[in-house]
Amino acid sequence: MEKTSLILVGAQWGDEGKGKITDWLSSHMDYCVRYQGGHNAGHTLYIDGKKTVLHLIPSGIFHAKTIAIIGSGVVISPSHLWKEIEELKASGLNMNPEKLWISPNAPVITSFHQQLDVAREAKGDVKIGTTGKGIGPTYEDVAARKSIHLKDLLDIHVLTAKLKNIATEKNALLQLVYGMNPVSVEEEAKTLFEYGQKLKNYLKNFQNEFFNDSEKNKNSKILYEGAQGILLDLKFGTYPYVTSSHTVPMGAHFGAGINHYESCLKLGVLKAYTTRVGEGPFPTELFDSMGETIQTKGKEFGATTGRKRRCGWLDMPLLRYAIQVGHLDAFAMTKVDVMAELGDVKICTHYEYTDETNSHKKISIYSNDLDLKKVRPVFQTLPGWDAVVDQKGQLTKELKHYLDVVESELKRPISLLGTGVGREDLMILKPQVFGSLMS
Ligand code: IMP
Ligand code: MG
Repeated sequence: MEKTSLILVGAQWGDEGKGKITDWLSSHMDYCVRYQGGHNAGHTLYIDGKKTVLHLIPSGIFHAKTIAIIGSGVVISPSHLWKEIEELKASGLNMNPEKLWISPNAPVITSFHQQLDVAREAKGDVKIGTTGKGIGPTYEDVAARKSIHLKDLLDIHVLTAKLKNIATEKNALLQLVYGMNPVSVEEEAKTLFEYGQKLKNYLKNFQNEFFNDSEKNKNSKILYEGAQGILLDLKFGTYPYVTSSHTVPMGAHFGAGINHYESCLKLGVLKAYTTRVGEGPFPTELFDSMGETIQTKGKEFGATTGRKRRCGWLDMPLLRYAIQVGHLDAFAMTKVDVMAELGDVKICTHYEYTDETNSHKKISIYSNDLDLKKVRPVFQTLPGWDAVVDQKGQLTKELKHYLDVVESELKRPISLLGTGVGREDLMILKPQVFGSLMS
């Protein structure tokens, strides 16, 4: 089937370099839509040598003709969103309500949610290593049917009533369980109302206006920009060390109101190695100087929290699983430049696992009933590369071999290759993957 739109997701635990790929693909798109997560995400872009980190605003915002959309599946910190809009304006970008549409039904992260997130991480028994932005508690309230939506910020009476509806329980938790100060409903209402006034012109019910218009729907090229990565999906990820939203491409159904899943190309973004920030098992993690070298060369610090990212080799069993649950058609691989000059490199081809009856198993694909803490990764060593391209501008033969091995292990094409931080550091290896999407 001809692909008319595209869903782009991280194929690992986030931080694969999705922002850069989204930015590049967006030049061919009419719309770029964020559909899940919140400002826990951090998408770093280098455009004309200038660094911008986006947390909430879609990475397609930099192209004049591309409209950026934030769907109702995204949880919003109004103060953070406003700050990001102001920063983009200050950098000279033409930000206005024609350029950025935000769903009035997006849930709001309040001080209650943010403080509970921080308190639980500091004092709870199980640490997830969250970003402390209030993401989990806000999604909890969506499920509990107590969520405050952006549109509620426009009416102080509605807003106050909705805040009161969550305040009793949450202040009891904050004070009695976590020994923190309560949040004042009146002050919170005042602050949120003020942000509502600032943001109101950007609120747009595009669901009705746009997605239900089948002609517009059919003729538009839409890029759905995932945040985090498939292994952090609430349902399909490495639970409980996951985020609270659906990071698989199917999440676009819920978060954006998409109704043409079948006609979307599903592109997984994959780093040439693996990183993870926060807690949770990580079979190919490197604890030696190689891990440190990759961490330093790749500047593997969280864009949102500044935490060091844990680093390890590429993991085929996890990626095969990501392909399966994400219905991935193809990959974009990033940061191959970081792996230059490392000497020999490795990929994990499968795991060995000894079950409770002491029988040994070879596992070539992860499943989320498997205890990742108990697997032993089995590696294949491959020759490393000294540079991304040779003097003729061709991929060096060692890097080409690495890509060939990964493609044959995963049975999916690597269509794009990220070779540096800049917007221009991108090689198109297999344009045919995109069909007419890039025309
Ligand atoms: P939360 O999303 O803040 O609730 O954090 C839950 C888990 O997801 C933690 O391990 C975080 O480090 C991780 N996480 C959340 N957002 C990102 C991201 O954008 N990149 C990488 N990891 C993330
Ligand atoms: Mg990131």
